[in-house]
Amino acid sequence: MNELSAARAEIDRIDSEMARLFEQRMFAAAEIAAWKRENGRPVLDAVRERELIARNSARISDPALQIRYAAFLKELLAESRAYQESILNPEAMTVRAAGGSYPIVMRRGVLGKAGTVLNLNRRVFLVTDEGIPAAYPEALAAQCGQRMIHTVPAGEASKSPDALVVLLEAMLRAGLTRSDCVLAVGGGVVGDLAGLAAALYMRGIDFYNVPTTLLSMIDASIGGKTAVNLAGVKNAVGAFWPPKAVLVDPNVLETLPSRQLSNGLAEAVKMALTHDSELFTRFENPEGYGSLEDVITACLRIKRSVVEADERETSYRRVLNFGHTLGHGIESAAGGRLLHGECVALGMLPMCAPSVRGRLISVLKHLGLPVKTDIDVDLAMKVIAHDKKSADGSVEIVTVPELGRFAFRRVSLEELRGALLTLGKEQT
Ligand SMILES: NC(=O)c1ccc[n+]([C@@H]2O[C@H](COP(=O)([O-])OP(=O)(O)OC[C@H]3O[C@@H](n4cnc5c(N)ncnc54)[C@H](O)[C@@H]3O)[C@@H](O)[C@H]2O)c1
Repeated sequence: MNELSAARAEIDRIDSEMARLFEQRMFAAAEIAAWKRENGRPVLDAVRERELIARNSARISDPALQIRYAAFLKELLAESRAYQESILNPEAMTVRAAGGSYPIVMRRGVLGKAGTVLNLNRRVFLVTDEGIPAAYPEALAAQCGQRMIHTVPAGEASKSPDALVVLLEAMLRAGLTRSDCVLAVGGGVVGDLAGLAAALYMRGIDFYNVPTTLLSMIDASIGGKTAVNLAGVKNAVGAFWPPKAVLVDPNVLETLPSRQLSNGLAEAVKMALTHDSELFTRFENPEGYGSLEDVITACLRIKRSVVEADERETSYRRVLNFGHTLGHGIESAAGGRLLHGECVALGMLPMCAPSVRGRLISVLKHLGLPVKTDIDVDLAMKVIAHDKKSADGSVEIVTVPELGRFAFRRVSLEELRGALLTLGKEQT
């Protein structure tokens, strides 16, 4: 007992000393952040971080403890980086992930100053698509040490294994090493494809995301999910690979077609319905929902809280699938006629309590989103039955019993078929 007390007293003494040292270390980090702000330098210096971990873990004599100390230092550096980031960019939001925290920096015009937030002073492999105004990737490329721009065709077809292999081969030809990085400039398609390539290449290299659609700003660019489609199955092959940073420049939305804007708003409405009744009432305002930046910030807060609570989607994160079970079926059956957000909008309708549904119909109509569809229900049901969430003829779905609240429920495929059939009729 005496030995136990003595060991505990020793740990208490060490912990109090470590708290003092931690604070001192963060004060020094704050000074470095101030210097970086003055000199326009980014927070992340991957090479120095690696050297620091190698040098300091070598000071531990026990090899097993050396490995643990290296892991501890990695966490500490991620924390230090997030702290510096919060000083450099007070408006930045930090997302905590198992592999280290990362910032989301939202500011008008930040695209032209990306080099002060991201470490672009290395080989940067930019990935974009043909539909994205070339000025965006070019503005970023101008701030990079060495850069390559890889452009894929616009649209979901680029989220394919073939496009992934072409991209990986181009990265290899460019001589990209593990110290270099991939920078996605585009919507969810480019982000998902480039993120997966970054996760796979040399077992993983740094990934930055600069989303250019509303949907990718509020949803696809954060949370670390990356994927391509396989044999007609959406997101069948993927990885969790969180970005090192996300840059959101609302100015780029000026060139986004209005249908794509509505497409993104559908995901914002989804988040409002399940988590934020105040945000939903904004969408009901006949004079407009106010500033797009406020909507983006509200959605980013929701998405962050969900992915921080359940990064690997073992439970709670499934709430983000609200509207997606029917939505994916509708999307496949529509054969490219409807956008992802439009299908999610339709997929949410039967999942809301009647009191919410009426209000949702008005909001969707107001935002230019569909409330009725004539898709082939049998075709949609085929996809839903093969959905990864389907087991024993039943599927887990998310419902909204009242505004700002959600529930998980298992329903039969028959019930879902009935729900799809209601979407063929006029919604009131
Ligand atoms: N990883 C995730 O967590 C996650 C979450 C939601 C959706 N997604 C995926 O995101 C994809 C959909 O993403 P999306 O809706 O952004 O579509 P998208 O990436 O296909 O972009 C839509 C279109 O807009 C164009 N575009 C993009 N930015 C533009 C701009 N600023 N100005 C003009 N045109 C612009 C593109 O060229 C494209 O034609 C789907 O594949 C979906 O599965 C992923």
